[in-house]
Amino acid sequence: MTSRPKGRGVGNGPAGKRVLCTGRLYCDLVMAGLSAPPAPGQEVYAESLVLTAGGGAFITAAYLAALGRAVGLAATIPAEPFAGPIAAELTESGVGLSACTYAPLGQDPQITVAMITGGDRAFVSRRAGPAMPETLGPLLAARAFDHLHIGELASLAEMPWVVAEAKAAGMTVSLDCAWDAEVLARPDLVQLLDQVDVFLPNRAESNALLRHAPLGQYAPLVVVKDGENGASAIAGGETLHRPALPVEVVDTVGAGDAFNAGFLDRWLDGAALAECLDAGARTACVALARQGGARGLGRLARLRSAAE
Ligand SMILES: Nc1ncnc2c1ncn2[C@@H]1O[C@H](COP(=O)(O)OP(=O)(O)OP(=O)(O)O)[C@@H](O)[C@H]1O
Ligand SMILES: [Mg+2]
Repeated sequence: MTSRPKGRGVGNGPAGKRVLCTGRLYCDLVMAGLSAPPAPGQEVYAESLVLTAGGGAFITAAYLAALGRAVGLAATIPAEPFAGPIAAELTESGVGLSACTYAPLGQDPQITVAMITGGDRAFVSRRAGPAMPETLGPLLAARAFDHLHIGELASLAEMPWVVAEAKAAGMTVSLDCAWDAEVLARPDLVQLLDQVDVFLPNRAESNALLRHAPLGQYAPLVVVKDGENGASAIAGGETLHRPALPVEVVDTVGAGDAFNAGFLDRWLDGAALAECLDAGARTACVALARQGGARGLGRLARLRSAAE
């Protein structure tokens, strides 16, 4: 078994609200340059293959760290042989990894195979084991963080108690949605999100959520990410829309999770919603202009200072 990557406890950001991200951590196998989409009974060949760390919790954490925020990750590192290939990326992200655990021997590796054909993407994921590690409960109780970000609604559906425990520890809570048809069909989602402060679905997810209730009922602040159309914040019965920024799109993987980081970074500092939305759009542009999730991100502090 590979030894745990040596990340710092809480990341290396300056003083300010500390964020803990939790949810599923994947090893993404990104096959790009397919000549045609995969089809049953046929074989297609990829021009390139990259192994990279994926899942909303890690990608949002990595962008927060790159923005200079102190951030930790509570996630299960995928079982071998997929822990090794992402170990250096996790360590170099600047995200605190002390709350990460290893998948038990014999568990299927948690991986996503992404197949990219031109502008189209198809994904096949294997979820394995619990969505969040056992370290999470004690860590929340220890009050080492000010804010909890949950990477996907399906993880909350699996472990609904985390929000109440985070609130009991005085934390604020945000949640990305991420597409999961079965979870989005549940009629009790408004109740499930009770006490979530910031909910960040994309347009397709919002349309699914609207079948059950108006978006404003899901959380006091709902942020709808709408690709090249920008993003809207719904709060107190008002909707504020801000446009996306012009960018040469290389790869849309992680744009939504990067947006979350930029938005939350400013929101945690008490910035106005327009500034939070604009910060989200700027951070999303970094993800859009590069291949893959958060590998080799470097420092993005200048994105922050653009707003200060
Ligand atoms: N084509 C684009 N041009 C400019 N900005 C974009 C484009 N696509 C996405 N963005 C920016 O990224 C943000 C988030 O994108 P999107 O709505 O696609 O999120 P998402 O569907 O959750 O993404 P993900 O695939 O990472 O889950 C948008 O609000 C916008 O600021
Ligand atoms: Mg998304």
